[in-house]
Amino acid sequence: MISKYSHLIDLNDYPLSWWNKIIELGHDIKIHPQRYTHACDGKIMATLFYEPSTRTQMSFQSAMIRLGGSIIGFDNPATSSVSKGESLKDTTKIVSNYADILIVRHPQPGAAKAAALTADCPVINAGDGGHLHPTQTLTDLLTLHEEKGRLDNLNIGLCGDLVNGRTVHSLCKALSSYSGNTFVLISTPQLKLPSYVKDIITASGSNFTEVSSLDEVINDLDMLYMTRIQRERFASEEEYLAQKDTYVLDAKKMSRARKDMIVMHPMPIVDEIAVDIDNDSRAVYFKQAKYGMYVRMALIMTMLERDKPTQLLKGTTEHNCVCTNPNCITNAEYYLPKSFYGSGDTVECEYCDERILLEH
Ligand code: NCD
Repeated sequence: MISKYSHLIDLNDYPLSWWNKIIELGHDIKIHPQRYTHACDGKIMATLFYEPSTRTQMSFQSAMIRLGGSIIGFDNPATSSVSKGESLKDTTKIVSNYADILIVRHPQPGAAKAAALTADCPVINAGDGGHLHPTQTLTDLLTLHEEKGRLDNLNIGLCGDLVNGRTVHSLCKALSSYSGNTFVLISTPQLKLPSYVKDIITASGSNFTEVSSLDEVINDLDMLYMTRIQRERFASEEEYLAQKDTYVLDAKKMSRARKDMIVMHPMPIVDEIAVDIDNDSRAVYFKQAKYGMYVRMALIMTMLERDKPTQLLKGTTEHNCVCTNPNCITNAEYYLPKSFYGSGDTVECEYCDERILLEH
């Protein structure tokens, strides 16, 4: 299924050269913001946020205003027609006639792709459930570029909720495209990185190790990416409480880390980083949130300039096959064409990447 517009659903839909162009532009905007104050004059950006957000929404809004454009949107579906039962398809279609670009955040994996299927303008995925978060990844790449001076040959530690953290999934996929990066995945057995992301790391030729102790590995990292335990994505409060507070980065642990290691976090921080770490020069998460605005300025400009059709669904429709991920958008918005890729006994849902074993 081909859309007339360019969308950003998954960073891996674009070549590395494109990501590097966005990062370079983000860097230039940071150095010379005055050069870009009229780059989007007369353009309107709509934020459709079906799930809470502070940084992503406001940095997008601030980005568009700093480019000379205007903003509309909702950040609480309860105050829009969504609360009356309007489908994602209809909301997207209508708002895309009011705006030149849509920014969509949704609690269900695959929702941004679903929105792009009907939108009459470019759609940017601002986080779809526990699945992907490409604009956070561009933020993280710009942060590494500015703070470490490189995106390759890094020993990267990712700690916390690696199963539900969409920022972690997108970041691992992206960093495995640069040569020489290695990944240290620090989590409990219940919160391990999904297999499909590990397969992408391996297929790229990068290495990963899985460990449960942050203490044992912190001394060897170039960057530590801390994440919160994602309470809202657990099936029950008991399961969340069993994982809560497993990893807390404190001064004692930081004393074992290298002088040039940086600590990143997509935010919000709940209690996984002790407050005194904020004053450690290696903690760059507040700067990271600011870099997010510059990179989103670069992204908005680029997406508004591009006018290339995008192939949104490339897979085939398996007869009688439905996605087994109960959270997948295709199980909530019934009209969506199901689409799967792969061959043999397993296929993957093209909206949420869930692996499905075919019964013969
Ligand atoms: C993250 C998100 O929403 O996925 N935050 C963000 O976008 N900056 C991480 C999180 O919610 O924990």
